[in-house]
Amino acid sequence: MLPVIIDPELCKADELCVHVCPLSVLSIEEKGLAPVVHPKKIKYCINCGHCMSVCPTGAITLSAFEGELAIPFTKEELPDYNEVEMLIKTRRSARKFTKKQISTADVGELIHTAAYAPSGHNAQTVSWTVLDSPEKVHELGEVVVEWMEEMVKQKNPLAEKLFLSGLVNAWKKGNDVICRNAPAAIIAWAPEQGITPQADTVIATNTLELAAYAKGYGTCWAGYVVLAAAYSQKVLDYLAIPGGHMAHGALFIGHPATRYRNIPARHKAKPEEIDGKWVFRARPNAH
Ligand SMILES: Cc1cc2nc3c(=O)[nH]c(=O)nc-3n(C[C@H](O)[C@H](O)[C@H](O)COP(=O)(O)O)c2cc1C
Repeated sequence: MLPVIIDPELCKADELCVHVCPLSVLSIEEKGLAPVVHPKKIKYCINCGHCMSVCPTGAITLSAFEGELAIPFTKEELPDYNEVEMLIKTRRSARKFTKKQISTADVGELIHTAAYAPSGHNAQTVSWTVLDSPEKVHELGEVVVEWMEEMVKQKNPLAEKLFLSGLVNAWKKGNDVICRNAPAAIIAWAPEQGITPQADTVIATNTLELAAYAKGYGTCWAGYVVLAAAYSQKVLDYLAIPGGHMAHGALFIGHPATRYRNIPARHKAKPEEIDGKWVFRARPNAH
């Protein structure tokens, strides 16, 4: 089956889809007629949907998505820059949560929204594991702490660098500095091999994080979970991550118990001109 299906009745032969295709999969066989999928280029189609996204008459569907129709939108429906800027600047990592549980329908929606994040070759290989109760998150914390204890025992240099023994001691005293007593967690993972799986996973996680904030949730990156997953098979098994896959993103999520009222200060990079390029350096003491 052809990857791109063009309805000749709806096609106005404007060639917009031909010009927008990043891999030149579509071509014009006869001026004034609907474009065709170039037979030698079928295999290059990455299902990015730019053809269906640009078409003003809704003439294009993709067979990979069983003919799902494009959803039209107008410029007026988009948030303006100030709204996006406020969303980005007012988001804070949430480390205190109320007892209210997250809605699984919301999580499903957020995961679907995150599928619109960019991915190398539009591979969209990011999968998600959702822990939907504080008990499951705590169980994950226990597996992570087990790995931390092992690192400390082995005198792994990472243990000292990341103060792992302090974290383990705090955990044992009932101070959950690892999972922040979160009511839920969402872990993003992808195949180890691929085009850009690590970047895709991080971008998808950050996209979900912003979307979750816009929905009223608080999230916090679960850095120790991602780290532990890179070393511990037991953590991967707990998260139902199959062999050959790696977790590169993880968020604790819940209803935030802290109300932030101000935008905090951040480093303002002053551009320097170096050999004709504008360089915005990270702050000098950034570690
Ligand atoms: C990759 C990554 C890992 C992180 N891991 C943790 C973590 O394990 N625990 C935690 O409390 N915060 C974690 N954070 C949150 C950062 O501390 C936080 O983003 C930073 O202090 C800035 O605060 P803000 O997110 O409120 O702007 C992590 C953030 C990132 C990007």
